[in-house]
Amino acid sequence: MHLKLKGCPLIVLVGFMGCGKSTIGRLLAERLGWTFVDLDEEIERRSGKAIAEIFDREGEPKFRNLEHEALLEEQRLARHGRARVVAVGGGAFAEARNREALDVSGVSIWLECPVKTLWDRVSGGSDRPLARRWEDFERLYQDRLPYYQKADFTVSAGSEAPAEIVDAILKLPLFR
Ligand code: S3P
Repeated sequence: MHLKLKGCPLIVLVGFMGCGKSTIGRLLAERLGWTFVDLDEEIERRSGKAIAEIFDREGEPKFRNLEHEALLEEQRLARHGRARVVAVGGGAFAEARNREALDVSGVSIWLECPVKTLWDRVSGGSDRPLARRWEDFERLYQDRLPYYQKADFTVSAGSEAPAEIVDAILKLPLFR
């Protein structure tokens, strides 16, 4: 199976915290027989630090640089034929440099989900530094919507079961 768009076997799942990027990404990669990469886990593995620790000790700009470098590395591997599905953190697609990189190669898919559902899924955990207060969470979601809307494709991921969401992705005009 070959990707029709942009000629590179790279699918990047984007969307706000809690939209299911990692769950869906893992299933999708399985169905395609591709590698799955959770970019946050990759950043933690490379830096030897937890995401919350990088945010709290080194600041968000440092995290964004690590995230950008990690994304470019996945793109490089895909360009060398190592097909992959990459789940990126909720802020990655809000960064112009990441969108610009993916415009060249890689297909972006936004997993769209109502903000209240997202909050119900992620609030109460301690591992997401940007999900500590509802007011901030909701504002950030609104700020990022225009960026998510720039993804190549949008798939609804509010109340659908993971397998259904994967089926919807596999029906997109991605493959030839
Ligand atoms: C972030 C989302 C997180 C993680 C970091 C920042 C964001 O990933 O990258 O906490 O800016 O929205 P998930 O979207 O996988 O929770």
